[in-house]
Amino acid sequence: MPHLEIPVVDLADLAAPGPARDAADKALLAGLGGYGLIFIKGHGIAPEAVDGFYRDFIAVTQRPEAEKATWGGRDIWFQRGWTPPNTEQAVVAGGQPDFKECYFAAPEALDPVAQAEYPQLYAENVWPDGADGFRDGYLALGRQVHGIGVRLLAAAARALGLAEDTFDRLIEGGAHVSRALRYLPLSAEQVGSDVLWGEEHTDFNLLTLLPGGRFYDPQGQIAPRPDDSAGLYLRTRPTAEHPNGRRLQGVAPPGCMVAQVGQQLEILTGGRLLATPHEILPPKAVGWTRCSFAHFIHVHAHQILRPLAPFADAATVQAYRPSVLAGTYGTKTLVDINLAPPDALQGLGYRHYKRLAEHRQEEGRKAFAK
Ligand SMILES: [Fe+2]
Repeated sequence: MPHLEIPVVDLADLAAPGPARDAADKALLAGLGGYGLIFIKGHGIAPEAVDGFYRDFIAVTQRPEAEKATWGGRDIWFQRGWTPPNTEQAVVAGGQPDFKECYFAAPEALDPVAQAEYPQLYAENVWPDGADGFRDGYLALGRQVHGIGVRLLAAAARALGLAEDTFDRLIEGGAHVSRALRYLPLSAEQVGSDVLWGEEHTDFNLLTLLPGGRFYDPQGQIAPRPDDSAGLYLRTRPTAEHPNGRRLQGVAPPGCMVAQVGQQLEILTGGRLLATPHEILPPKAVGWTRCSFAHFIHVHAHQILRPLAPFADAATVQAYRPSVLAGTYGTKTLVDINLAPPDALQGLGYRHYKRLAEHRQEEGRKAFAK
């Protein structure tokens, strides 16, 4: 059941100044501040287009594993193309990977300067052979959803008392990326076990947009969720009464999209907006799958993540210190969730140790012990 506490924002209300927009701005702030999440209607994305895209995506996932393994891969930290099942792992997961396969692509043009510095975060798209419909549908959906996110960010800035283009300037040329996800069917042994479709985590980007998932029955047909417990759950902001937050089901009302706050937006607003912890529970039924699409809007890799001026005080600076480049933050997080290799951390900025060691070796001198 959709949770009726979580605000629904109609995009049409954001179009022009007036009482409707004021009310929508307020709802936006209440949702993103209290739950880290809002539902969006009036977004203009046709459900049939999403169904059609998932159909093409499923066809791509049914190709041989050996072929899928050639699309992207570990060298680019799985930031484009196919991510195999049991690869990504939430920070809190204790070694338990998510039971899903994914396809990453960037729907927006890439910043060549950032691309030279962060070749994995800004990798070129890769596409399967003979899947033009999948590619075109992917890019069209990603661009449409990105545009919705940009409008929401302008509204969020306004509602927070910031200049309306505050986030627009920060995200220009960011490593925005979309992700098609297919959550995999559980066997009889896995049903009721600790296998998760997505372990609890917070997104590390600025804002995530989800145009709506679909459940598929064991015959592969779109069907209503097989049991009430399956799907998205979120954790609300902690209060005195609920110091660990409340766990709510985040299923969107029919036809609504979901927008959720990521860590970058929480940092920039000094915690005024909440990066919502969320998880995806599998159904208690054998053979069911789910497709989903997520678009991640990122702050440009060169921007510094720290509370913006109106939100910067001793407490928030303490809470979110030290300031860090968004590109560094992204690299570290991708290592933490097992998409980038641990030695990626050695590439965070120039260090002279290696060069000096090489010089000394060439001279035949012993490197310093320390
Ligand atoms: Fe997420």
